[in-house]
Amino acid sequence: MTASANLPLIDMSGVREGDPASIRRAGEAIRQACVDIGFFYIVNHGVPQAVIDRAMAAAAQFFAYPAETKRQVAVNKRHRGWHALGGATMYEATKPDFKEFFSMGLELPEDDPSVLAGEALRGPNQWPDFMPQMREALAEYYTEIGKAGADLLKAVAVGLGIDVDFFSSKYQKTLQRTQMVYYPPHPPMAEADQFGVAPHTDYGCITLLYQDNSGGLQVRELSSDSWIDATPIAGSLVVNVGDLLAHWSNNRFRSTLHRVINKSGHERYSIATFFDPTYSAVVDPCDLGIDAATSRYQPVAAGDYILKRIDDSMAYRKKA
Ligand code: OGA
Ligand code: NI
Repeated sequence: MTASANLPLIDMSGVREGDPASIRRAGEAIRQACVDIGFFYIVNHGVPQAVIDRAMAAAAQFFAYPAETKRQVAVNKRHRGWHALGGATMYEATKPDFKEFFSMGLELPEDDPSVLAGEALRGPNQWPDFMPQMREALAEYYTEIGKAGADLLKAVAVGLGIDVDFFSSKYQKTLQRTQMVYYPPHPPMAEADQFGVAPHTDYGCITLLYQDNSGGLQVRELSSDSWIDATPIAGSLVVNVGDLLAHWSNNRFRSTLHRVINKSGHERYSIATFFDPTYSAVVDPCDLGIDAATSRYQPVAAGDYILKRIDDSMAYRKKA
């Protein structure tokens, strides 16, 4: 049995068609997966492979540019743009991650009311003039993975025992962040506390990850305290629960430690999408059927929580 057999694989085709029995079935499988380990694969998620291929090709091309070129789109205060190697340190990690990434979000013009109001993380994306085709490739991926995320949340809602459409009103004008990530080959002489991504939990509600076939993503299994491989499976996305959904569910769903060490000997690319609600969406376990006496978490605006977590882990936000 391969280690990845420890992570369930859930078929989304019936969910996408809106078939109630399929949504119930997927919801139950998701509930079980999120209680047990907080990670699962989805297949037939609806993101066309051609869209994925274009985005992955854009990633390989973008990261191959020299640092001085990529610096033209260096990350800005809205968390949009290129993050150089060493820019992110996961909490409790001793060394910064051995990765670069490029972050984008919902494209909003400067005169959008949320931007004018100074809502953090909002605004236009940064697109490279030196690689004009990247904008279309990533924008298309962003849209398609957002649709897959919205479908997924229907089954998640049913798995949580709430209305199938509970999340849809919270996911207008979302804080969805999509990041292309580049992991150079792991240095052979690297110390044991050096990771591509150090052990961490994700901040937001739910993450949808496309990974290439390099391998290297590992998930902390609680019962045995060991790391299990989230082996690449063609055509799949890896899905995991983030801290905000764990809070929302009053810890019924678990947000699990994971890490990446790229031991493939070649470059590894992935595209992580943090599928998060709108800034002002209130995350309160009481809205998910938990009574106030049992709730472990105070209500919090999704954006405030995510902003704080980004502030805590990104070197560029600490300079000012
Ligand atoms: C992350 C993450 C995994 C990967 O960006 O939070 O866990 O395979 N990424 O890139
Ligand atoms: Ni992660």
